[in-house]
Amino acid sequence: MSRQLEKRRRGTMHSGVFMRVLILSVVTDPIPAQNSEIFTLVVPHGPILTRINASISLPCELSPIFSAEPLEVRWYRPGNFNRPALLYKDHSIQASVDPRYWGRVSLTGGLERGNVSLRLDRVTLEDRGEYVCRVSSEQWYEKASVSLTLIVLGGIPVLSLAEARGGGGQVNVTCSSVGWSPQPTLTWKNKEGAELRNVQEVLYTHDSQGLVSVSSWLLYSPSDSDWLSCTVSLSEEEEKESRILPRAPMDGHWSLGAFITTLIILLLVVFTVIGLFIWNKKTDKTESTERPEETALVRGDQSQAPNGGTVLL
Ligand SMILES: *[C@@H]1O[C@H](CO)[C@@H](O)[C@H](O)[C@H]1NC(C)=O
Ligand SMILES: *[C@@H]1O[C@H](CO)[C@@H](O)[C@H](O)[C@H]1NC(C)=O
Ligand SMILES: *[C@@H]1O[C@H](CO)[C@@H](O)[C@H](O)[C@H]1NC(C)=O
Repeated sequence: MSRQLEKRRRGTMHSGVFMRVLILSVVTDPIPAQNSEIFTLVVPHGPILTRINASISLPCELSPIFSAEPLEVRWYRPGNFNRPALLYKDHSIQASVDPRYWGRVSLTGGLERGNVSLRLDRVTLEDRGEYVCRVSSEQWYEKASVSLTLIVLGGIPVLSLAEARGGGGQVNVTCSSVGWSPQPTLTWKNKEGAELRNVQEVLYTHDSQGLVSVSSWLLYSPSDSDWLSCTVSLSEEEEKESRILPRAPMDGHWSLGAFITTLIILLLVVFTVIGLFIWNKKTDKTESTERPEETALVRGDQSQAPNGGTVLL
């Protein structure tokens, strides 16, 4: 029976074992108080969904229902047992917790009713992930995992056109969108709203904050001349769509860059011409004004030199 007890402490149980263990402990151990009870924890199966800045409850309840007030309740991220998000023991919430959760966590479900759910306020992106709910008495402990998923809507899909590699008269249409959580789906549709399934692949990348970027491309015949739509979505209500009319890339590739370059060269030519014209006029003017001065100076020198000589002598 002690082997079964060990097994129970480590993990799953079924009611048969539970009953036998309970009966055994009743028979063999004098039970000191209610906090020696053997219990399990009830948590949700799927993840809890929430949004940034929201308040959320991570459910965790004792089964059978009895007061958790004399017990220890520890909520921690896996690997952070000694730095819990919340620690309740000796009938009060302890101060020594992870600073990331300061002032944002509480137990509001009613400990006396066995509800040890963690309330988390002002949810941030970093709050995403697993949480362990661990409840222990002097004789017993149980833990269970609750997962928190953040819903973040990303940006409007950006559609761009390029000439298809290898030509063939098709255009390469690319759709990309950044900043999603959790991983979204991407679908291409034609004007009729029918999904296009000949898409090569959908690529996912994670940014430094752990948000997901998605992109996909397909080849389209511009002769179809109907618009295409690209939808990125988390669910039917949480989606963003963009549309494009895929046309063949313009002849001569008269891009904005080429236009600006041409404009700059044109302006340079114009300024050079104006500059040369002004310079020419200026040199003309100085030549015509300098010549008489020069002759006057020469004449003055000639007349002054003998004068100076007479004064000195
Ligand atoms: C969260 O709240 C803060 C302060 O109230 C605000 O500045 C920020 O924009 C909010 N973020 C979102 C995603 O709602
Ligand atoms: C436990 O408490 C949470 C609030 O933290 C509440 O949402 C939940 O409904 C409670 N469960 C029961 C069974 O009362
Ligand atoms: C289409 O464009 C994407 C980039 O947006 C590129 O990775 C892909 O190789 C292109 N495919 C063809 C056939 O041109």
